[in-house]
Amino acid sequence: MITGKTKIIGIFGDPVEHTLSPLIHNEAFQYLGLDYCYVPFHVKKEYLKDAVFAIKALNIKGVNITVPHKEVVIQYLDEVSEEAKYIGAVNTILNNEGTLKGFNTDSQGFVLSLKDEGILIKDKKFLVLGAGGAAKAVVYGVLKEGGEVYIYNRTLSKAWATKERFNNLGLIEVVNTIDKSVTERMQVIVNATSLGLKKDDPMPLSPELLLSEHIYCDIVYPETPLMKEAEKIGCKVIGGTGMLLWQAIAAFEIWTALQAPVEIMKKTLYKVLT
Ligand code: ATR
Repeated sequence: MITGKTKIIGIFGDPVEHTLSPLIHNEAFQYLGLDYCYVPFHVKKEYLKDAVFAIKALNIKGVNITVPHKEVVIQYLDEVSEEAKYIGAVNTILNNEGTLKGFNTDSQGFVLSLKDEGILIKDKKFLVLGAGGAAKAVVYGVLKEGGEVYIYNRTLSKAWATKERFNNLGLIEVVNTIDKSVTERMQVIVNATSLGLKKDDPMPLSPELLLSEHIYCDIVYPETPLMKEAEKIGCKVIGGTGMLLWQAIAAFEIWTALQAPVEIMKKTLYKVLT
């Protein structure tokens, strides 16, 4: 029940109808008996500044930021965490008594989704496909955990810009073209492009370049065609649902300063996605 004391958490995006975040968070709030409520807000580009101001004006406790606002929003915040600054994108805001601080939990989401499957990142070679916002979160997470990054992108200049951005965090190299001599040297292959979101998208990589020893990760959910192919080949496959779940868990803990009910959030998410 919503009362005068209920703390409001929101999500700002355009579109926002598809988001599963209200479901996951409200279930978690209810399970822990917390007086919080998570609400979607359809915020168009031209209203983002006003919407961020409204977090303070309406005493909203926190928000998630999604497409297409993750980068633009930074300029309207009072503080930004080190990782969000590095990545250049914010997906979580905490209103700390009138001070708005931005975080990026996508990076942690990726790292934790691998840890949850028992995968150690340290010293592994990652081929990262893509150099957009999501790819940068993946690259940051891998480098911070001591993995090596080999980055490929359709627009090569963006891969080079990503290398420049993260060069001092660890080993990151640009890959000009992908063939078997490249994939053979890798332990983990990550689709961090948006390919697989739409039904008629081409695959981000030819399945022939995958080996059964590869760990194949996709940031897209639910199952993409390349995930299916990778499974057939015998790869260990990790889909984007894990990243979605673990970024939500990290955001929950930022807003509430409590341990998130991981199993409940997991169960809620997998129930709607299977
Ligand atoms: P997100 O925030 O989801 O990462 P983004 O910043 O728009 O979204 O990045 C999308 C990524 O998917 C980019 O790496 C993009 O490649 P370009 O930089 O060359 O645009 C990649 N991508 C999207 N459509 C693609 C396609 N048809 N073929 C190859 N790469 C594609």
